[in-house]
Amino acid sequence: MSDASPPADVPSVRSVRASFEERLGAEALSLAVRGGLSRAEVQEAHTAFLGKRHGLVTGLLAALKTVPPAERAAYGAEVNALKREIEARLTELENAVATREAEAARIARSVDVTLPPRRVPVGRFHPLTVVRRRIEDTFRGLGYEVADGPEVETDWYNFESLNFPPDHPARDAFDTFFIKGGGSSRDRLLLRTHTSPVQMRTMESTKPPIRILVPGRVFRKDDIDPRHSPVFHQVEGLAVDEGITFAHLRGTLAAFARGFFSDRAEVRFGPTFFPFVEPGVDVAISCVFCEKRGCRICSGSGWIEIMGAGMVHPHVLEAAGIDPERYTGFAFGMGVDRIAMLVYGIPDLRLLFENDVRFLDRAWQ
Ligand code: DAH
Repeated sequence: MSDASPPADVPSVRSVRASFEERLGAEALSLAVRGGLSRAEVQEAHTAFLGKRHGLVTGLLAALKTVPPAERAAYGAEVNALKREIEARLTELENAVATREAEAARIARSVDVTLPPRRVPVGRFHPLTVVRRRIEDTFRGLGYEVADGPEVETDWYNFESLNFPPDHPARDAFDTFFIKGGGSSRDRLLLRTHTSPVQMRTMESTKPPIRILVPGRVFRKDDIDPRHSPVFHQVEGLAVDEGITFAHLRGTLAAFARGFFSDRAEVRFGPTFFPFVEPGVDVAISCVFCEKRGCRICSGSGWIEIMGAGMVHPHVLEAAGIDPERYTGFAFGMGVDRIAMLVYGIPDLRLLFENDVRFLDRAWQ
């Protein structure tokens, strides 16, 4: 191709082609594909060569009229060829840059499914809640209904109606929080020291047959240490009907021990005294950790005491307006905190109340 000559103050077609090659030469396309060439660079080149006012190719075309007529056709053809070449190249580069940008945007938007997920904090049940619910479920399966009663009680419900006469030494076992200005004698107010008053409240309001389970908070003036707390939890049970005997109590608690602790758990009764039952018993289960061989948890005895129980005292039935000649019943009461410590191997009662997140975060079940 001949290099038709424009006027002296206009660059030659060859030098414009050369400067375009220098700027966006053979390498440019692969650069554009790899992201090494920006849209702005392509646009700047577009302006520099094809821009309406100062574009180099535009300048070449404008010079056409100054080219001698004999050379004009050849010159015009050459400049037009260069213009088409540059246009084609710029379009190709623009497309490459656009494709590359779209791909980068798609990657930026996309989700990397191989990334480990962020940890979502989940709430968990407190071990006391887990144990309480398991106790409730075990007794529900035996036909018991869950009941509750007030934490602020009267002396009557907490003590007197349960056969603790005023000044009876059995009251000394309960270091009671009395409420100031809360009345006198049987009306005086206190924080219940056990869940047993709900026995009385239920018997007053419900006709036998009665089968209730009463979980709840109880209060005693104890100093805080690894085994004591002024607030703790009990579950009370009561069954009243015609013909209920000690055998029913034994069978019920044996079924509970198997359902709650282990298929192989056995129960053992020892004599003791609670004013509201006669006879009263201490109930132990065979140690589920050593199968009665004797271990640290059962202090080598093979048995673990888990509750008090007995046959409802006739005085208690009478106080509730239930005829003790016709009806009999049994009752039991257990400490939920103690059972939770036992089943989970929790060494210190305070852990249950301090709400340390490291403790609460465990999956108790
Ligand atoms: N209320 C008793 C206590 O807190 C536990 C108890 C013993 C409850 C014997 C009962 C029972 O219902 O029959 O020590």
